[in-house]
Amino acid sequence: MDGERILVTTATKMGSTAEIGEAVAERLRGAGLPVDTAPAGEVRSLTPYRAVILGSATYMMRWRREAGAFLRRFRLELAERDLWLFQSGPLDHSAEEQSYPLPQRIEARLGELRFRGHATFGGRIDPERAGFIASSMVKKGLGQDFRNFDQIDAWADEIAHELRMEAPTR
Ligand SMILES: Cc1cc2nc3c(=O)[nH]c(=O)nc-3n(C[C@H](O)[C@H](O)[C@H](O)COP(=O)(O)O)c2cc1C
Repeated sequence: MDGERILVTTATKMGSTAEIGEAVAERLRGAGLPVDTAPAGEVRSLTPYRAVILGSATYMMRWRREAGAFLRRFRLELAERDLWLFQSGPLDHSAEEQSYPLPQRIEARLGELRFRGHATFGGRIDPERAGFIASSMVKKGLGQDFRNFDQIDAWADEIAHELRMEAPTR
C-alpha cells in the first residue's frame, strides 16, 4: 500500500450527502491534505489512497446500496487503509446532541477493517428532487436543511489532525 491521497466517497440519493462529503474534503484540503471525492459507485481503485472516508444517506434505517457494495468490493484494500464513516439522515437537530449507531449490516463489515470512527449528521430533503414519500415529508415540515456544517467541519478537523500526525514519511 503506497498511496498518499485521501478519498472522500459518498452514496447519495438526493445530493445532500455528497455535499457533506464535499465539505469534509474541502476542510481536509484546507489542512494541506491531498483529497479526491467520488460517488461510491464510481470508485475503481483505492491504490492512490492511504485513507478513505465513506458517507451514506440513510433511508428506512439502511445505508444506500452503493455504500455497502463499496465496503464489500474493496474489503481487501480497505484492510490496509484507515477508514472513517459518516451517515446523514435525522431530519431534526438530534444528531448535534446524540450519537447514532451505524446500521448493523454496515457494522458487521467492519471487523477486519482499520475503522477509525464514525459520525452522524442531520439530513436534508431537497424539495426539488423529492419523490412522492419525500414530498409528503416536506409537507409535514421536514423540508429544512438539518445539516450542521460547523459540526461537519469539526469532525473533518479531527480527522485532518490525525492524518497529519500520521503523514507518510519519505
Ligand atoms: C423516504 C425517506 C426515508 C428516510 N429514512 C430515514 C431513516 O430511516 N433514518 C434517517 O436518519 N433519515 C432518514 N431519511 C432522511 C434522509 O436520510 C435525509 O433526507 C438525507 O439527508 C438524504 O440524503 P441524500 O440527499 O444524500 O439522499 C429518510 C428520508 C426519506 C425521504
